[in-house]
Amino acid sequence: MSFYEDHILPRCVELTLSTRPVRRARERVVAALSGEVLEIGFGSGLNVPYYPSAVTKVHAVDPSALGQKLAAKRLAASPVAVEWSGLDGEKLQLPDASVDAVLSTFTLCTIPDVGRALAELRRVLRPAGTLHFLEHGRSPDASIAKWQDRLTPVQKFFAGGCHLNRDVSVILRAAGFSIDALSNYYMRGPKVGTYLYEGRAHVEASSSGQ
Ligand SMILES: C[S@@+](CC[C@H](N)C(=O)[O-])C[C@H]1O[C@@H](n2cnc3c(N)ncnc32)[C@H](O)[C@@H]1O
Repeated sequence: MSFYEDHILPRCVELTLSTRPVRRARERVVAALSGEVLEIGFGSGLNVPYYPSAVTKVHAVDPSALGQKLAAKRLAASPVAVEWSGLDGEKLQLPDASVDAVLSTFTLCTIPDVGRALAELRRVLRPAGTLHFLEHGRSPDASIAKWQDRLTPVQKFFAGGCHLNRDVSVILRAAGFSIDALSNYYMRGPKVGTYLYEGRAHVEASSSGQ
């Protein structure tokens, strides 16, 4: 990783993803978690203050060392035990069927091989497990989506590999998830980066994972 990605980008992410509307959305998505949870793309732990008491343990996965440092205060203030469980969502170190829920916020945009990461999430989720997500992604408005396609190479360069144009519903279904709840909406800000997917999914029983 470069100096920019190691030392500057995580701070920028923390600023832009801490606004009041984003905090409210985090709170809604995190509220339904329970049991043993994997948080993929843990970042600086911006979801930690919202973990409900029904969560017994969180496995945090993220490659950013600065994120871990920035998370320290939130972790110290949290009653929920958080264990660092690896650096790469594409290669999880957790055993099969070992977590009750997965949390992903603003992360499916960034993981390079998102299909591989979703296959890993399917592997580690218990049969009745759920994936809770809050992600930005592809707009249904053709004119916005066109700009998202055009600007994604620039965004990837400046924002640590973040894609503006991933259709979260499509990639979840392609990976064998069934979506149980979904809200799509624009947050305040430039429409190319603020079309959100907020919801919950589970692994389709009949899915082969291909
Ligand atoms: C935009 S940030 C979001 C951070 C956090 N989830 C939040 O909501 O504030 C994207 C995060 O994905 C992490 N990330 C990038 N590649 C990853 C990978 N292969 N596996 C897990 N996390 C990854 C980055 O380090 C970064 O912390």
